[in-house]
Amino acid sequence: MEKTLLIIKPDAVCENNTADILGIVTKEGFRIRAIKMTRFSSSQASRFYAEHKGKPFYAPLIKFMTSNPVIAVVIERKNAVKKLREVVGKTNPAEAAIGTIRKKYARDGRHNAVHASDSLSSAKREIPFFFKTSEIKDWKYKDYPVIK
Ligand code: CMP
Repeated sequence: MEKTLLIIKPDAVCENNTADILGIVTKEGFRIRAIKMTRFSSSQASRFYAEHKGKPFYAPLIKFMTSNPVIAVVIERKNAVKKLREVVGKTNPAEAAIGTIRKKYARDGRHNAVHASDSLSSAKREIPFFFKTSEIKDWKYKDYPVIK
């Protein structure tokens, strides 16, 4: 099992697509281990996207990501990083495959609905950006028992 980070971006939050996106990932066998709504400050967004500093889309990306809340989600399954990237689709929705989250919900390369960690090392760096270890909860997949 592997954990990765999904961020539902401001465009998808404000268009009320959160439940649909979570439904897609859970139907693909991902289990939610941690979830929170938060809003990036400029300094947090600059740190999170440090690798893109200097690129032409950097300034509008920071402006967009700080414009409204995001929903950060730790999800787990086998081959989570690779599988989530497939389910999310390419950065630019015009190039994203039919059935992917970005094909359905993204407007363009900036307003692209979600972020997914691009490697296991990125996931390991990005998850603690939002969550303490104690906030990530394990649970077993099973028929839930009757509590007496
Ligand atoms: P994300 O998965 O969050 O990682 C980096 C983000 O930069 C990416 O999604 C896009 O939102 C943004 N981005 C990357 N390339 C472009 C581009 N060519 N134009 C606009 N935004 C981009």
